[in-house]
Amino acid sequence: MTTMPLDTTAPEVSSDTTPAGTPRAAAARDHLWGHFTRHSVYEEGGSVPVIVSGDGCRITDDRGRSYLDGLSGLYVVQAGHGRTELAEAAARQAEKLAFFPLWSYATPPAIDLAERLAAHAPGDLNRVFFTTSGSEAVETAWKLAKQYFKLTGKPTKTKVISRSVAYHGTTQGALSITGIPDAKAMFEPLVPGTHKVPNTNAYRAPEHLREDPKAFGVWAADRIEEAIEFEGADTVAAVFLEPVQNSGGCFPPPPGYFDRVREICDRHDVLLVSDEVICAFGRIGSMFACDDFGYVPDIITCAKGITSGYSPLGACIASDRIFEPFKHGDTTFSHGYTFGGHPVSAAVAMANLDIFEREGLNQRVKENAPAFRTTLEKLLDLPIVGDVRGEGYFYGIELVKDKTTRETFDDDEAERLLRGFMSGALYEAGLYCRADDRGDPVVQLSPPLICGQKEFDEMESILRDVLTRAWDRL
Ligand SMILES: Cc1ncc(COP(=O)(O)O)c(C=O)c1O
Repeated sequence: MTTMPLDTTAPEVSSDTTPAGTPRAAAARDHLWGHFTRHSVYEEGGSVPVIVSGDGCRITDDRGRSYLDGLSGLYVVQAGHGRTELAEAAARQAEKLAFFPLWSYATPPAIDLAERLAAHAPGDLNRVFFTTSGSEAVETAWKLAKQYFKLTGKPTKTKVISRSVAYHGTTQGALSITGIPDAKAMFEPLVPGTHKVPNTNAYRAPEHLREDPKAFGVWAADRIEEAIEFEGADTVAAVFLEPVQNSGGCFPPPPGYFDRVREICDRHDVLLVSDEVICAFGRIGSMFACDDFGYVPDIITCAKGITSGYSPLGACIASDRIFEPFKHGDTTFSHGYTFGGHPVSAAVAMANLDIFEREGLNQRVKENAPAFRTTLEKLLDLPIVGDVRGEGYFYGIELVKDKTTRETFDDDEAERLLRGFMSGALYEAGLYCRADDRGDPVVQLSPPLICGQKEFDEMESILRDVLTRAWDRL
């Protein structure tokens, strides 16, 4: 069995177009096992990019070359690179108390952060279970949903519904929820009991719904109800949805979608989990993106931007209703991670949220998002650009072979276009971003929230040049 390339963030350029690798790159080739990385490229002489420093919206590699960070690392570095105060917050906490677990104990930074997140979270989402990553947050949410229903007299409610092409992480439960068959094939059998429904890619909506976003929203939400009824409501515990789906290229929810999903979940007593591992912490313009789209989930999962990446941290935030049965007798949520809610990470998150407040980062995203959209939409005059979509500081540009018919590239063409050319050419031109073919081919942009028009223009101009050259090569 072969697997499709999953992540083309890395510029997989061939040896003849790459300057000789540095000694570090050679050591990486010999010893470092890259995540989602096709190592043959490096074995055959390609050089792994080694990033050594960052400052604001820019990163620098070990050849001394500077790049615009168009992806915030991996949707993480909200406050930008080189923030001394975040490094200092980490150092201060490490000096005072470097580590203590949250296993029947607590630490001041974890308590303070839980209180602060609860204040930001909508509705009665007041209970914070810390993890170290997004996958762990998703894993936690699913286990929590299962136990909640066991404790409340509905023990057969265990299954999860999620969307096609959606990425929810790599641990076996989260991977089961993930809707990318190529990411899962090698690890089957995975956790049973997951079911996929269509996503909200309006550009690829059924033809009769393309001009009517509201009707598309109703249609897409109703697919969730259909799946619940098909599986049996007494077997379904939760629906996992991202506010704006990342994988496939930034699908915003159609108008009315989440209102209807909320109604459906309530009708069938199914928990709505808002997977905000990417969308929280200003990516769309609010602390939690469910606020941007006006719905209140039962659980939020988040990670990445919570610390702007200065230390790893994730969280699963549950409503009072979900927590209630855990308050009594000898009931325990027998689940945890040694490093979940690490004091250093929690202290960094507190300092990161201070930056959000002091610099008005969410407001900044709200104010600048229309200009970001307008700047990227200029690319629609190129024959290869089929769609520009997204929200906030989170955009996908879908590449097509034929704009009129929306015909996409076949696997070989996508491979040659994205891996063979685009990723390397964008990087060489000074833009780090993501060329992704987990759905139809897209380029994704998700810059630090401190970016402004200057960086938007730089992204547009590099993309224009590289996409024009890509089209000429077809
Ligand atoms: C929506 C979503 N959920 C979960 C994850 C997994 O997060 P992590 O890589 O921190 O485990 C990701 C990662 O990108 C994600 O985008």
